[in-house]
Amino acid sequence: MLLRLGAALRQNSLMSAQRKIIHIDMDCFYAAVEVRDNPALAGKPVAVGGRASGRGVLTTANYEARQFGVRSAMPTATALRKCPQLILVPVNMEKYRAASKVIHQIFADYTDKIEPLSLDEAFLDVTDCKALDGSATLIAQEIRQRIQQQLQLTASAGVSVNKFIAKVASDWNKPNGQTVIRPAQIDAFVAALPVGKINGVGKVTEAKIHKLGVKTCGDLRQFSEQQLSLHFGSFGARLYRLCRGIDNRPVKADRIRKSLSVERTFAEDRADVSALLEKLPNLMDDLERRYQKQQHRYAISGIFIKLKFNDFQTTTMAHGGRYFWDKTLLSHEFSQLIEQAWQRGNRAVRLLGIGFQFVELDTASSQPDLFNGASEI
Ligand code: TTP
Ligand code: MG
Repeated sequence: MLLRLGAALRQNSLMSAQRKIIHIDMDCFYAAVEVRDNPALAGKPVAVGGRASGRGVLTTANYEARQFGVRSAMPTATALRKCPQLILVPVNMEKYRAASKVIHQIFADYTDKIEPLSLDEAFLDVTDCKALDGSATLIAQEIRQRIQQQLQLTASAGVSVNKFIAKVASDWNKPNGQTVIRPAQIDAFVAALPVGKINGVGKVTEAKIHKLGVKTCGDLRQFSEQQLSLHFGSFGARLYRLCRGIDNRPVKADRIRKSLSVERTFAEDRADVSALLEKLPNLMDDLERRYQKQQHRYAISGIFIKLKFNDFQTTTMAHGGRYFWDKTLLSHEFSQLIEQAWQRGNRAVRLLGIGFQFVELDTASSQPDLFNGASEI
């Protein structure tokens, strides 16, 4: 076991020493753009989103507002209770898209290995970049300076040898911060990391991990890969590597998404359809979170579900049509598809997946804010 672990870590440092990965994330992006364009807002708590009266939700808030506990995805009414002096600004996607374009043009001066995660966030693989003597630290600094000069906006950056650590690092010293985690620091850095910081560990998985008496990635290392797979399905093997700082995923250049889906393998098979449907709300929360990051670019052109039965046979059901994010409606539609698909097998289910088919939003006719209901503003 110890030998195997040592080998894995050695392999990790050998492989990852070859890569230089930067994760860049703009600070309170939409809010920062709004404050820049209206200097009267500077220093005040500002949030961007739909009005409380229209049951609006916030897209984000600046750091002044966050001191009051105001957060992304919070209902505006709740935010106003926490911070009555909060200044609410409507969403203006065109402005954020324009800023995003400039940011991506800056990135492209250093590498073509750019993986955008959302309008304001991207991974860059600068391993082969010759600028600034190939120093990823200096490249990240220069990118942030240029963003500041050209857009009067701040960005935070994380620099390390893989995507997992670079992303955690960019969040480490926000706003306007930069954190570099060198190969020799990885082991200690990751060991102390709370498990909730692992990409893909949402609230539900985090609670499940806590139940095992585990708080940090270091604690998680006491479990074998088999044990983690038993508890967390296909995610277990990934957890085994991530808690050791191992992440060999490449930075994938931009591609057009055709779909977005989330799925979960259950620790215990779901014997009947009602037990299966109990799992839908959690999956919908995951899908919602991931869809938020894509909704500026894609419209939903259909929905689908996937079931894997206990004999590993898989079946899918889809329903075409234009959908907007409406939790009640979607939950009803997904439930119907699940019920129909379940009847095909009529036996216990080990995996449930739900997802959307996408079409790219045409920029000319794009709908600014399907998700946040900001059209009510
Ligand atoms: P984030 O990078 O997650 O958040 P942020 O840039 O506002 O703040 P941070 O400094 O912590 O990075 O998201 C980028 C933008 O995406 C954000 O400004 C608004 C939008 N967004 C939503 O519309 N809904 C959401 O739930 C989240 C999290 C973000
Ligand atoms: Mg951001």
